[in-house]
Amino acid sequence: MPFNPIIAFLLSNALLIKAITACGLPYAGDLQDLSSFASSNRGALAKRHSVYHSPQKIALDNVRVFDGHKLTRPTTVIIDGTFIGTDATNAKHIDGRGAVLLPGFIDAHIHPMNVSDLESLAKNGVTTGYVMACYSAEMCTSLGGKGNDGLPSLLFSSAPASAPNSAHGNITARVDPSLGSILINSTSEVPTWTHRQLASNPDYFKLVAETPGLSQNTLTSLVKAARRVGKPTITHASMFEAYGQAILAKSDHIHHAPLDKPIGASMIKAILRNRQVVTPTLTMMRTTAKNNARKYNFRASLETVRSLHKAGVPILTGTDANLAPGVPAGVSFGTSIHDEMENLVEAGMSNAEALRAATNLPAKYFGLRDRGVIRPGMRADLVLVEGDPVADIKATRKIKKVWIGGVELSGV
Ligand SMILES: *[C@@H]1O[C@H](CO)[C@@H](O)[C@H](O)[C@H]1NC(C)=O
Ligand SMILES: *[C@@H]1O[C@H](CO)[C@@H](O)[C@H](O)[C@H]1NC(C)=O
Ligand SMILES: *[C@@H]1O[C@H](CO)[C@@H](O)[C@H](O)[C@H]1NC(C)=O
Ligand SMILES: [Zn+2]
Repeated sequence: MPFNPIIAFLLSNALLIKAITACGLPYAGDLQDLSSFASSNRGALAKRHSVYHSPQKIALDNVRVFDGHKLTRPTTVIIDGTFIGTDATNAKHIDGRGAVLLPGFIDAHIHPMNVSDLESLAKNGVTTGYVMACYSAEMCTSLGGKGNDGLPSLLFSSAPASAPNSAHGNITARVDPSLGSILINSTSEVPTWTHRQLASNPDYFKLVAETPGLSQNTLTSLVKAARRVGKPTITHASMFEAYGQAILAKSDHIHHAPLDKPIGASMIKAILRNRQVVTPTLTMMRTTAKNNARKYNFRASLETVRSLHKAGVPILTGTDANLAPGVPAGVSFGTSIHDEMENLVEAGMSNAEALRAATNLPAKYFGLRDRGVIRPGMRADLVLVEGDPVADIKATRKIKKVWIGGVELSGV
């Protein structure tokens, strides 16, 4: 089978390997495999309960705090249980002199399969993640994701909406033939698809714009249906033509950035008018282009982000982290959030803007009111780094400590 690296945007490891190895064979049983994955995840999570400690009361003294724009003067931040507090009585004091405290990072596009993927995210300071392709709700929810066990909070997508015979539709059908019935052949099937997805109560709907793929009418109708049932839409668009479709459909979020041709002024104006938010996943675009330079052009992605940012379109960090051995576009969990911030700086953002793209902005545009800034009452999702990331974005890699909901990670 000719392997299309774009597939990797949607698939996590096991699904992808199955899809490749099962190529051309009639086959079923992946949902069963997903179930056994799910049960081993549940087992691994249960074992973790003996590994982490409950949140404590900690006063972090003399620490400078990233306030969304700059660093404050040295101050004290109190971690009181799950949240940031105000009262240092009986707190254990930690000297944060010379270090900088940041809100936990939010990765708006990941494909974790197991607890070790989540641990890699956590120790790199990712405290919240958006899981982007839940073919099986059971598989996704087996990852936990409540943010109360020293692992990142997770939000979950629907199954990706795609058309029969499209690249993504073929994958869906191959994952399990019974999923073929959730492919969308025409606009008239949108209500049924929506209804089926709601059964697993996803946090948002994942839609796929591609050529060949869903028609403009179907994509637009999916966005409208999602809005009626109160679900945000996130549309995959990794090529110029698909970007045009995602814009016309008025999807709330657009993920990826075109790998063929940068978008122009009229499309950027439309994105602004529609108040759309872009997560370009430059780390994935760069890796994909590197592995297939004849077909893809990373400069197109970079130029697109540069123009979007200049025009004032909100840009969020997402990495498309997935570990699929042998796949040309594997992106590692956790370390890639630092790569993505550097990529955004390369696309013209300031260091402070790149930090905001990984903290306050995703919280704001996903409506997570309890995180993204360091303030009493907010979740104690915190990253303590050495050095000053506002002066040098690479300093986010020098992590000293991470807390998720007040739970301190050991052995960072
Ligand atoms: C999807 O699979 C069908 C049937 O094998 C094939 O004809 C079609 O070209 C595939 N679509 C893409 C975009 O690869
Ligand atoms: C949509 O297309 C798929 C794949 O070709 C097929 O299995 C399914 O029955 C079709 N659905 C409807 C409602 O026609
Ligand atoms: C977890 O999943 C990743 C793929 O996302 C895989 O590479 C790794 O081997 C798995 N680890 C365990 C402990 O199962
Ligand atoms: Zn993806």
